[in-house]
Amino acid sequence: MKIDVFTLFPEAFAWYASQVHVTRAAELGHELRLCNYRDHTPLTHQQVDDTPYGGGAGMVVRIDVVAAALEAVYDVPCDAVRGERRVVELTPKGRQLDDALAAEFAAHDLCLLCGRYEGIDERVANLVSDRVSIGPYVLSGGEIAAMAVADAVLRKLEGVISNPESVVAESFAPDLEGALEYPQYTRPAEFRGWKVPDVLLSGDHAKVARWRAEQSQRATDMTRRRS
Ligand code: ADE
Repeated sequence: MKIDVFTLFPEAFAWYASQVHVTRAAELGHELRLCNYRDHTPLTHQQVDDTPYGGGAGMVVRIDVVAAALEAVYDVPCDAVRGERRVVELTPKGRQLDDALAAEFAAHDLCLLCGRYEGIDERVANLVSDRVSIGPYVLSGGEIAAMAVADAVLRKLEGVISNPESVVAESFAPDLEGALEYPQYTRPAEFRGWKVPDVLLSGDHAKVARWRAEQSQRATDMTRRRS
């Protein structure tokens, strides 16, 4: 699959793009492409944003700049891009990202539109197929949210995570029926009096599986009670 991220700050993705599972995804033929709105702006002085009509604080990313970037990259009218891929605006006003949405996105090519400042001009609604939030709080821009979406999606692709069992049994996965993952421990078996549960050292696989199922249920019940 292709994930194209449109942003004013492509350098923000350097660390993420260098992570081993992202480079593995690239080796498998998937692509994470970074597109800078500024490289395609039709305005002078590489302008990309403007003050809001009606007044108020901050700057708004211009719709003509977003449209020009989409048309330069995809070579189709900007409102046709969503016909061939999911075009996702990252915004706190969007549908909240969850595991099911990540799985849905994994079946498509993606174009992720990051806003900055006061976001993107509302007319971006004419260009997108989805508006997605990563949680009920406001970030300074869409870049962190785009990385969250890209990562949740890339993990769903076959071969990207070296041990497929870790994806099948992780929190929210269908195999856990949407439950949270059981707790994990590693060496040392005891540290400053804090012990790893005996059952995990027992070598009894059936008992371990039962314990993990119980723990997973308990973690899920506790989280649901808190929310
Ligand atoms: N941009 C700013 N805040 C955001 C959020 N919570 N989710 C997605 N994009 C955002």
